[in-house]
Amino acid sequence: MCIFAYLNYHVPRTRREILEVLIKGLHRLEYRGYDSAGVGIDGGNSKEWETNSKSIHLIKQTGKVKALDEEIHRQQDVDLDVEFDVHLGIAHTRWATHGAPSPVNSHPQRSDKNNEFIVIHNGIITNYKDLKKFLESKGYEFESETDTETIAKLVKYMYDNRESDAITFTTLVEQVTQQLEGAFVLVFKSLHYPGEAVGSRRGGPLLIGVRSDHKLSTDHIPILYRSSEGICLLWCFSSKTQKEWSGFKQNSAVIEHTNRVIFLEDDDIAAVRDGRLSIHRIKRTAGDHPARAIQTLQMELQQIMKGNFSSFMQKEIFEQPESVVNTMRGRVNFENNTVILGGLKDHIKEIQRCRRLIMIACGTSYHAGVATRQVLEELTELPVMVELASDFLDRNTPVFRDDVCFFISQSGETADSLLALRYCKERGALTVGITNTVGSSISRETDCGVHINAGPEIGVASTKAYTSQFVALIMFALLMCDDRISVQPRRREIIQGLKVLPDLIKEVLSLDEEIQKLAAELYKQKSVLIMGRGYHYATCLEGALKIKEITYMHSEGILAGELKHGPLALVDKLMPVIMIIMRDHTYNKCQNALQQVVARQGRPIVICDKEDNETINNSSRTIKVPHCLDCLQGILSVIPLQMLSFHLAVLRGYDVDCPRNLAKSVTVE
Ligand code: UD1
Ligand code: BG6
Repeated sequence: MCIFAYLNYHVPRTRREILEVLIKGLHRLEYRGYDSAGVGIDGGNSKEWETNSKSIHLIKQTGKVKALDEEIHRQQDVDLDVEFDVHLGIAHTRWATHGAPSPVNSHPQRSDKNNEFIVIHNGIITNYKDLKKFLESKGYEFESETDTETIAKLVKYMYDNRESDAITFTTLVEQVTQQLEGAFVLVFKSLHYPGEAVGSRRGGPLLIGVRSDHKLSTDHIPILYRSSEGICLLWCFSSKTQKEWSGFKQNSAVIEHTNRVIFLEDDDIAAVRDGRLSIHRIKRTAGDHPARAIQTLQMELQQIMKGNFSSFMQKEIFEQPESVVNTMRGRVNFENNTVILGGLKDHIKEIQRCRRLIMIACGTSYHAGVATRQVLEELTELPVMVELASDFLDRNTPVFRDDVCFFISQSGETADSLLALRYCKERGALTVGITNTVGSSISRETDCGVHINAGPEIGVASTKAYTSQFVALIMFALLMCDDRISVQPRRREIIQGLKVLPDLIKEVLSLDEEIQKLAAELYKQKSVLIMGRGYHYATCLEGALKIKEITYMHSEGILAGELKHGPLALVDKLMPVIMIIMRDHTYNKCQNALQQVVARQGRPIVICDKEDNETINNSSRTIKVPHCLDCLQGILSVIPLQMLSFHLAVLRGYDVDCPRNLAKSVTVE
């Protein structure tokens, strides 16, 4: 599900070095989930790329990037020591949508047996069947089951039917993208245009990293429209200067090469020719920015390294005392009990006037909405809806101009959430993003928002992003009522509750060993039920999602209030049950639920307040967490379940960071 390209221009690199960069780029993107991988590089054994480059070599493999790397080293006819002064290599990890994982279905996809044009693609082409039929009628033969292969064939069709031999690679790609429907991020390489790269995007992110040992003449790349005269160069270097270009999907892969990046917009076509980058658009539309700025990413390499942890997920669970602080840094003042959210300050009055808040998200981010709904309702006194983005769209949910719609997304790229955002914008609602990724599509397309600043989250199963989203939404609730006198005591209590949160999270993390032992008792089970209510219903949903995602055990989050309406039938002495019981307004009802489960011979493991002796004495097994304010307690109750799912997955022998069939960033509907 990720593409990575690397172009070195007058920077000699051996084929070995080029492949290392490509493989490393794929490794950095591995966490996003995939089932096969491939690379496309120049063949031949000559240094003279201008005259040579009459072959392109594809190496593709199912399984991990490691398997691809091994396959590369098995290739007898690939001389790894050949040096290229100019070279474009493209690489891809695929998550099967059209056709099973197999080398032939992996990317790069090719135009023909000579590999005249090859392409890597993320997304789905919805009209590929029509295109395929058309191309087949013209005699093009298909070898894979992918939608992507139509793109490779289509570009060759455009080339074979070109009006002039002077046609540029950019123009060909422009012609191709005009025929495509659906979502795509593409990078092309061609035998006919050696050393040139062309990339485009629609509905998915594409980032260009720029590295040069010379200062660039401009930090803004002007957009060239097809109607403008000719193609001008955006920046130039003498042939002796260093310039490298790479196209990637995610910041983490680019950061080890450069922190200077350009985010492309939908329908931009970026091309590198003779070492110069240009960005083109077909049509000029009102509101277009005239240029794309080169931005500097504030990300350090060590932020994306595992350190002493066995997986990113474990590292991210243990980062939570710091990540919640980073979410609040510069925003919550614990001395005078104030909250400032720079990203909302120009819109807060408008938000306060709205009629309804709608929180829209997928997966874990949706649970962050469920977790904070009650406190939002309490502090804003507004109706709050929490919606799964796909269902929200399926229902054509009525949205009005006086609604404020929140889009909660770690990645900021989730297709369903992004489509829902556009849907709400079209209907005139104010849109607010709660995202972890600066520069992501949701961050850019919302009217305003809050970056949760949790730092990069690499593990597919989201952990620290959840607790930071939770904190961000609490901060928003506090901001909404900062001038209402009646709620000031409650506000102060919440702000002081936030202050002690990092230490309490540390205390919960110290339960790790105990939870590991519990996992050792549970890991052979087929199913786990997680029950709770009120502030902890979201914890049940989120805990069950974590367990499903990475342990492949069946797990269900059950609202304890619904027990008698069905789930109780599942309870017997064999069914593992986890219950969350905290000392809030639902306490007595939760005790009733506990009794109902015990009466059916269930022996629940209870996550409870460490000072709640009644529950501790009445339960055979407890996980004791420190007490904090009711509306924040959900941050503490979810962490034992994050740790439990992690240990269960390790004991079951699964890859914690890359669960089967799942991707970190789901950029297709
Ligand atoms: C900003 C800076 C931060 C700096 C701080 C100093 C950025 C990204 N953040 O943080 O580095 O330390 O000022 O005052 O430059 N936005 C959206 N949608 C979203 C998320 C954010 O539109 O989903 C917008 C916000 O409305 C805002 C901008 O992006 O205009 C930055 O948001 P955020 O990083 O949350 O703002 P600050 O906390 O003020
Ligand atoms: C995917 C991830 O399903 O998308 C989940 O595997 C995540 O971890 C969900 O919660 C939503 O992603 P995002 O980036 O919009 O928060």
